[in-house]
Amino acid sequence: MISDEEPLGWDTSAAAAAYQDRDMRLAEKLIFPGVLQRLSRCPGPDRLGLDIGCGTGAVAAQLAGTGEWTVQALDPSVDMLDIARTDRPHSRISYRLFDGRALPWLADDSVDAAVCCLVYCTDPDDDRLAALTCEIHRVLRPGAPYLLADLNPAAAGVAFSTLRHGEPGAVYTDGDTVPTVLRLRDGSTMTSVTHYRSLDRYRSFLTEAGLPSPTVDLPTLPADDPSEDAPAETRTAPYMILTTHA
Ligand SMILES: C[S@@+](CC[C@H](N)C(=O)[O-])C[C@H]1O[C@@H](n2cnc3c(N)ncnc32)[C@H](O)[C@@H]1O
Repeated sequence: MISDEEPLGWDTSAAAAAYQDRDMRLAEKLIFPGVLQRLSRCPGPDRLGLDIGCGTGAVAAQLAGTGEWTVQALDPSVDMLDIARTDRPHSRISYRLFDGRALPWLADDSVDAAVCCLVYCTDPDDDRLAALTCEIHRVLRPGAPYLLADLNPAAAGVAFSTLRHGEPGAVYTDGDTVPTVLRLRDGSTMTSVTHYRSLDRYRSFLTEAGLPSPTVDLPTLPADDPSEDAPAETRTAPYMILTTHA
């Protein structure tokens, strides 16, 4: 997947509009089921979940759709939230603008689970993400899960069927800007930048916030045909899901 487009910043209305039309097939197979399965282990009945960096609301809608979660879906982008409210309204979801750093309206130990999906990779600011991670730990009830799903840093440069983060063969280190191409539903592409962080850096966001070191899942698709022509996502995980508990 090659694109000459000028990269879009994530905090622009153009990025939000393009992201609305992204091809979600890989995320739907490799992230959402894993997230829902892990959250199904939480004791019920009416649980409060956070979708942090909800974007256009895809994860919040999945959670609310189970009928078991009330969801606060939070994002610092007005444009993303406008799309989420229009495309995925739900009586169990409240969408809320926040600063990407603090959750002052939430009491300590008041939340049953938090999900943060494809967010850390879009934020260049380590200090903001460190503060946000501490806040997530503060508001989670003891034992409640925090699921951090993100681009798999070990897959930089691999051309998946719906995305490529990084140039083929390039080597990235913490803090590097990574050109990232997403396929849209009509077959065109959106080019943005993400911010490379190693798996160790992700782990340290969690442990420095006082959370236990996470389990790491690297889901791939089953290969019908294990040949070289099979899509890259049958051999390499495009995403990772880190699971820890407060
Ligand atoms: C690639 S989108 C992912 C949206 C959604 N979670 C999904 O999986 O479809 C990244 C989102 O993270 C948001 N974001 C960036 N920095 C953030 C931060 N520090 N806290 C919360 N959200 C942030 C952006 O505004 C954007 O909506």
